[in-house]
Amino acid sequence: MTITLARRAQRMTPSVIREILKIAERPGIISLAGGLPSPDTFPIEALRAASEAVLRDHPREAMQYAASEGFMPLREWVAAQLRDQGMRADPDQILITNGSQQGLDLVGKALIDAGSVVAVEAPTYLGALQAFTPYEPEFTTLDCDDDGPLPDRLSLAKAARFLYVLPNFQNPSGRCVSNSRRADLAAAARALGLPIVEDNPYGELWFDAAPPPAIAAAWPEATIYLGSFSKVLAPGLRLGYILAPPELFPKLLQAKQASDLHTSGFSQRLVHEVVRGGFLRDHLPVIRARYKTHRDAMETALQRHMPSGCSWKSPAGGMFFWVKAPSSVDAMRLLPKAVERGVAFVPGAAFYANQAEKNALRLSFVTVPPEQIERGIQMIADALRA
Ligand SMILES: Cc1ncc(COP(=O)(O)O)c(C=O)c1O
Repeated sequence: MTITLARRAQRMTPSVIREILKIAERPGIISLAGGLPSPDTFPIEALRAASEAVLRDHPREAMQYAASEGFMPLREWVAAQLRDQGMRADPDQILITNGSQQGLDLVGKALIDAGSVVAVEAPTYLGALQAFTPYEPEFTTLDCDDDGPLPDRLSLAKAARFLYVLPNFQNPSGRCVSNSRRADLAAAARALGLPIVEDNPYGELWFDAAPPPAIAAAWPEATIYLGSFSKVLAPGLRLGYILAPPELFPKLLQAKQASDLHTSGFSQRLVHEVVRGGFLRDHLPVIRARYKTHRDAMETALQRHMPSGCSWKSPAGGMFFWVKAPSSVDAMRLLPKAVERGVAFVPGAAFYANQAEKNALRLSFVTVPPEQIERGIQMIADALRA
């Protein structure tokens, strides 16, 4: 008996990262591979207190089916935050999602036909490629420099359904798009009538200065902006949101209804209870300070141990270093040698839609203590020398 798969299922592939994480979970391995936030930053006490309050004050509402759009007070809170950051955001434009990963899937469902062109950065977030791929797009990769996608290349994407871009401390490259580049991208997109999907899970994790305003602030008519509570509270809550142009909102909502009816009402009330009194004002600086110390430890270790020919830029926020080894190095072949020595990372090739650069390594600095970061980097350097 053979079960015939849909074409879209044939295009689905296991995430390379998940396979690598299985290796990285072996005892004794220092894992710089994960994309997880540090569990030490999860505000357990605040969540416990909020959970008690929700179950005491609104137990039945929290456990009942709820609106597909999301819990209105949380939508209002999100809209107010985005307005404070210079965006045009009405609560009616906010769709609460089951993590921003669901936002990516809903965008794919609503906007991509088989053969539609979708423009992406090189490198880009692997999970977005996975979310879009079942809808059978053709990916166009935009040339990028250290500052992000080159606006004059946007004309190559003019027939695209959208450009998917991660302006803040990108996963995987750590890159932050400059203010002037954002303005140029928004202007070029406006001139072409090109919608933008702006994914921003890391924007609050800055170390010295907040990143420039979102592209959505300059191109609100056609930017679909995705946010997440995963990196500022905890990913287990599975809570994210979409800020959508009003004309697109009903289609994303219908896509969500078909997918899961609504996001957990309990999670939404819990998070609203935590954030409504300004909790993040005190909590975010704690995460930033912690991640900055880890970033500095990795920077020092890289400088101390990496052989010549390797290059990187110290990220100004987020969770990742993107290290380029000499072009003769294939990071996928380096990985087993690194694992033998006791360290894991993610080979950069996983993050390209088309032609992959093989010599890059994504190194997460947030979950491993600084002493282990130093040892891990030393082992990668040893593997590279060997
Ligand atoms: C760039 C990017 N977008 C989206 C997500 C999905 O996050 P979540 O679904 O937890 O909000 C991640 C997760 O790591 C990510 O790195």
